[in-house]
Amino acid sequence: MKTSIKNLLKFETSVHPFRKMAVAVAGIFIVTTSFGQNNTATLDATQARYRISKYIYGHFTEHLGHCIYGGIWVGENSTIPNKNGIRTDVVEALKKIKAPIIRWPGGCFADEYHWKDGIGPKNQRPTMINTNWGGVTEDNSFGTHEFLEFCEQVGAEPYISGNLGSGTVQEMSQWVEYLNSDNVSPMTELRKKNGREKSWGVKFWGLGNESWGCGGNMRPEYYADLAMQYGTFLRNYGKNTLNKIAVGPSDDNYYWTEVVMKQMGTSIWGLSLHSYTWGNNETATNFDEAKWFGMLQRTMRMEEYVTKHAAVMDKYDPSKSVALVVDEWGAWYNVEPGTNPAFLYQQNTLRDALIAAINLNIFNNHCDRVRMAAVAQLVNVLQALILTDKEKMVLTPTYHVFDLYKVHHDALMVPVDLKTNAYTFGNSSIPALSMSASIDASGRLNITVCNTDAKLDQPLFCNLKGYKPSSVTGKIINANALNAHNTFDKPDRVKITDFAQASIKNGNIEAKIPAHSVVLLQIDGVFEGRKAMTPPQNIKQGLNFKVYEGQWSRLPDFSQLKAFRTGITNEITIPDNIPATNVGIVYEGYLKVDQDGIYEFSAISDDGSKIEIDGELVVINDGLHGMVEKTGSIFLKKGFHTLKVEFFQAGGGWGLNVLMASPGSEKKPIPSNMLFCQ
Ligand code: AHR
Repeated sequence: MKTSIKNLLKFETSVHPFRKMAVAVAGIFIVTTSFGQNNTATLDATQARYRISKYIYGHFTEHLGHCIYGGIWVGENSTIPNKNGIRTDVVEALKKIKAPIIRWPGGCFADEYHWKDGIGPKNQRPTMINTNWGGVTEDNSFGTHEFLEFCEQVGAEPYISGNLGSGTVQEMSQWVEYLNSDNVSPMTELRKKNGREKSWGVKFWGLGNESWGCGGNMRPEYYADLAMQYGTFLRNYGKNTLNKIAVGPSDDNYYWTEVVMKQMGTSIWGLSLHSYTWGNNETATNFDEAKWFGMLQRTMRMEEYVTKHAAVMDKYDPSKSVALVVDEWGAWYNVEPGTNPAFLYQQNTLRDALIAAINLNIFNNHCDRVRMAAVAQLVNVLQALILTDKEKMVLTPTYHVFDLYKVHHDALMVPVDLKTNAYTFGNSSIPALSMSASIDASGRLNITVCNTDAKLDQPLFCNLKGYKPSSVTGKIINANALNAHNTFDKPDRVKITDFAQASIKNGNIEAKIPAHSVVLLQIDGVFEGRKAMTPPQNIKQGLNFKVYEGQWSRLPDFSQLKAFRTGITNEITIPDNIPATNVGIVYEGYLKVDQDGIYEFSAISDDGSKIEIDGELVVINDGLHGMVEKTGSIFLKKGFHTLKVEFFQAGGGWGLNVLMASPGSEKKPIPSNMLFCQ
């Protein structure tokens, strides 16, 4: 972490729940919010370092109520328009918001799910009792093939949660083989027999769900041992590397994070966090201002949870190699009257739009550590984006927030220093504004801001550093009642409309953010950050490399060590004839890019590696592990930039692939005509 990064969270009233945290976490993060200064935000594009992973905009589906059956799956013979049994209207809606990743089959259901029951001819699939969710009979007609077909139709990546609670190591390991192997093997043959020739290459894998509760009531010490055991037998097939996600804590259970990180460290791709915002004995639609305020205040605790869990993770993973995956979040109210209490069906109002916007702003602002999330749940359950009733479908206010916020997918997060007014209700106050900002691949600055205040409009002044605006446009989600919601009869009460109350003044942005609204400001202009450099005159093709010897479990400070071999290479690959254990390599030189834009880099390595551009850490994949991929992005101006790649290998298998995606192209090894050295 660079010293230029600012302190976080200096709330200045005595009533806010974040206040204590400010003391505990000072110095570790990049977004500042404080009260009482008439809504001034400083957006510093010169400090943009981290990419907002599109996976933050992920979804969760479970065999629960009408999420899968009726919500996604209607069967091939249904009169409801479908493709291979999957609702066409739902797929189209998800394509529009570019849904990037979908988690399945649970939730609590995942730890009782036996995947072999859900493959093969439908009329031969056994039934089971869904003991978690109403004791209904599950006929397994939606299984592995149907879920992956759904993901393919949407264009989303699958994230599968394996059964660690009541399954076996062999069962989980065979599932991975069934999904990902193209070798000759019993599982590959079984998949082919069931109609799928080519492997799917599933990447994201959950090692159980809520193992501290419905997933087995385990202690973290026991869970971490078990997850290590299961994880060992989940293999990488072909070029696919599996990103394993361990069960993490709920809410403020920092002890769980401490133990699991201590035991599992960087052997995992991610650690999950579940945190729901609970209603105060109310349905989604039936509330007053006190309950509006209460929900928003409670949902803002996500800031505290993410910050404190990230601080614990920093102890065991200072280079932020492991992602915090908030794969269950959202509002949880009493069910709609007259519906099955076990089906968790609730409506969705303007208040839920604010809840979604606040949480997504928090995740964006913490994108150095939060690299995946999933709102619970996608259709017909809890804070759903979509509600269905037989052939009818309606998009909720939460859906519209995901639509508005899709501009942040894979964009560069711009740190925001926000001095916000307080929204006070009774004896309590919360920030009136919540905000995040990013620069997208085209260089456009997108600011999302919501006004939590139920009554007052809020002025906003954005002081832009490193970005010269030329035009500003806007969009807004708002309605004339706090509990406004969309129904099958009136589907457009809450929707996105144009917003014109923003302007440019002296190179900065001024706006008026209406009460209880979510606003997107889109600013075109020139991003002045990260200029290209003038390279030394005597440069030539290739990168310098140096080879070191040593025993490490993390990347050492190579500048303090003496290399035993040096050379020049045209590609970033492990040089021939070097020892296969206890070895480190540093590649250094210049990268020449031929256009301005966001460049994405991947370091796929066994063991640790990292990539730095212009002295900034872009990808970190440190620690002892198998072939694991880590990615990062950076906005580069056309021209030369310094490039440094570090790698070490302790023992066992080893490998290093460094890939780059130029704006608008696929990721591939960095072409040799872009690499230079002295
Ligand atoms: O989303 C509903 C349930 O909430 C999930 O099954 C479980 O993981 C969580 O407790």
